[in-house]
Amino acid sequence: MAYREEVAAKEPDWFNGAVPSFGPEDAELLIIGLAPGVTGANRTGRPFTGDWAGDLLYATIDKFGYSTGTYDARPDDGLELKRAMITNAVRCVPPQNKPVGAEINQCRPFLSARIAALPKLKAMICLGKISHDSTVRTLGLKLKDYPFGHGTHYDVEFAGRPLALISSYHCSRYNTNTGRLTPEMFEGVFALAKGVTDTA
Ligand code: URA
Repeated sequence: MAYREEVAAKEPDWFNGAVPSFGPEDAELLIIGLAPGVTGANRTGRPFTGDWAGDLLYATIDKFGYSTGTYDARPDDGLELKRAMITNAVRCVPPQNKPVGAEINQCRPFLSARIAALPKLKAMICLGKISHDSTVRTLGLKLKDYPFGHGTHYDVEFAGRPLALISSYHCSRYNTNTGRLTPEMFEGVFALAKGVTDTA
């Protein structure tokens, strides 16, 4: 909060708020990121938009047919998501892109409400361990029973509805530059989700 206000004082023309989710309410796939990047989503007001991580994310979303239009790193680029929505585990920009436990816990009710408000939801892709862990807690499950791993796929329930909980290394600059996450690995995760959303 203090950090967001500090950024807002320096950059009053940026969005500088709790970044809303992006995508239609009939989404079957919910992609759950970490938190807005300071010069990306915190500046533009759309998840992953203008963030380094957005380049790979939006390219992969497009490849799997979950968008129409062309991503151009601007909220007015005309891009629309189809059957998919992007949200973040933490809604405001955290210092050094590293949200602390209290912030993650404070934002969890929003994540829970987000999941609850998607009547057609079938699958979630969590980007990174923080997103995964917060989602597991949101579902009322124990972390030790659902450990994070790249490409993990758990069948879970939320409010009596079956859901696939799929996780990936975060598509951050660090992970992609070091080769911890390659585009092929990321596509492998989306292929898992597509298998779920395209099954009746
Ligand atoms: N931008 C977002 O909106 N979320 C992330 O997790 C990273 C960058």
